This record gives sequence, C-alpha cells and structure tokens, in this order.
Amino acid sequence: MDAPVPVIAIDGPSASGKGTVAQRVARSLGYHYLDSGALYRLVALAALWRRISLADVKGLEGIAASLDVVFTNESILLQDQDVTEEIRTEECSRCASGVSACPAVRLALLERQRRCRRLPGLVAEGRDMGSVVFPDARLKVFLTASPEARAERRHKQLKQKGIVATLPLLLQDLRERDERDETRSVAPLKPSPEALWLDTSAMSPEEAVQRILGWYADASSKPAANSI
Ligand code: DC
Repeated sequence: MDAPVPVIAIDGPSASGKGTVAQRVARSLGYHYLDSGALYRLVALAALWRRISLADVKGLEGIAASLDVVFTNESILLQDQDVTEEIRTEECSRCASGVSACPAVRLALLERQRRCRRLPGLVAEGRDMGSVVFPDARLKVFLTASPEARAERRHKQLKQKGIVATLPLLLQDLRERDERDETRSVAPLKPSPEALWLDTSAMSPEEAVQRILGWYADASSKPAANSI
C-alpha cells in the first residue's frame, strides 16, 4: 500500500504567527500549503456579498459547498475577483468567526481541505488541522504565544498597513476571541493530545520554523510515530 502523503498540522490561536511560520515551513520543504482560516473568511465574504445572514444555515452551507476560489502564490481569487486584502478586514474576521461556528459549513469545507493533501506533502494551518481534518498528520504542532506578544504583533502589522489601533483594545479583542474560540460548542480550539507545543512569545519566526523542521525530521525518521 502507498504511504499516505505526509502532513504537518499547525494549529493555534489568532495572531500566534502560525500563518508566517507555516508558509515558511512549507517553502523550505517544497510542500503545498493550506490556510484553512482563509476558507472560513471566503465563506464569510461571499455571505456578506450576497447579504446572507449568519442565521441562514442552508444559505451558508450552499456557499461553502460551491465556493468558487482560486489560490495562487500571491493572491486569493473569489469568483475571479482578487480578495486577498478584503478577507482580512475586521468585518470579515468577525463574520468568519460566526461562520466557523456553523457545523454544516465545517462539514462542507472538510473534503475541500482534505483534497489539498497532495505530493510531496502538505503544511496545513488552522484550528482543527490535527484534531479533525488530518488526524493522521505526521507532525502536529500547537503554536501559541502570550496574549501580550500576540497583541503587539498585530499592532505592528496594522501600523505597517497604516491602520491606527491601540494596544489595550487589541489585547482585549484577542482575549475575547480566545474565549469564544475555546468555549464554542462546535470544534473549539483544543490541541490534540499528541501535539507538540511551541510558545513563540520570545522567538523569531525563523527560530520557530527551524524548531518545527527539526521536529519534522525526527518524526520522519520514526515511521508512523504520530499516526493513529
Ligand atoms: O486563522 P484565521 O484568523 O484566518 O481564521 C478565521 C476564522 O476561522 C477564525 O474565527 C477561526 C476560524 N477557523 C476555524 O474555525 N477553523 C480553522 N481550521 C481555521 C479557522
């Protein structure tokens, strides 16, 4: 039987830096990259465009099942429109959080995510990559950082984009989001028991990448050590 295509699952809370780290890990290994949060953001944006409410489960499910999206190296196209920046707005983030709590949407996106598993391998980033989408991932990482470090990173990112935000408000927003993500009844943010924890509060992205690549080399030298 063919060995399954290897997956590295990187999960963690918002602004933990997992996007940057996961992309760099994928690039160093020449693997495909899945930003699962972008899928929830795209469903949210399509719902906003079509004025479909968060309470309209059938409507949201329909959008998720027929999402017309193209990921290129540089951009994300929804119905042929470049929405790379638009899916990152505060409005879209709030709506994505609501959309992601809908079980029918999660189910509709499950197969789409699994289809991203292609040779030579996949680095998948999100909240439930190790626990639900790729339970047999070769390596599972739970990437986190203190709320203060994450708020500072977000503050810096927003400043670079010319967006004014205050640190105390960003910190409060992150804490509220964590609370919602961890306590929601559907797919709460919960690390898999076998996930390796990486606290990046005092670490550069490159140090985090090197640590994960080291863990991956170890996991790959012990066949099926992490599979279930
Ligand atoms: O990682 P992100 O901020 O782009 O995610 C956007 C939203 O989608 C956020 O509210 C968390 C949610 N999400 C999820 O529920 N499951 C995933 N695998 C990825 C993201």
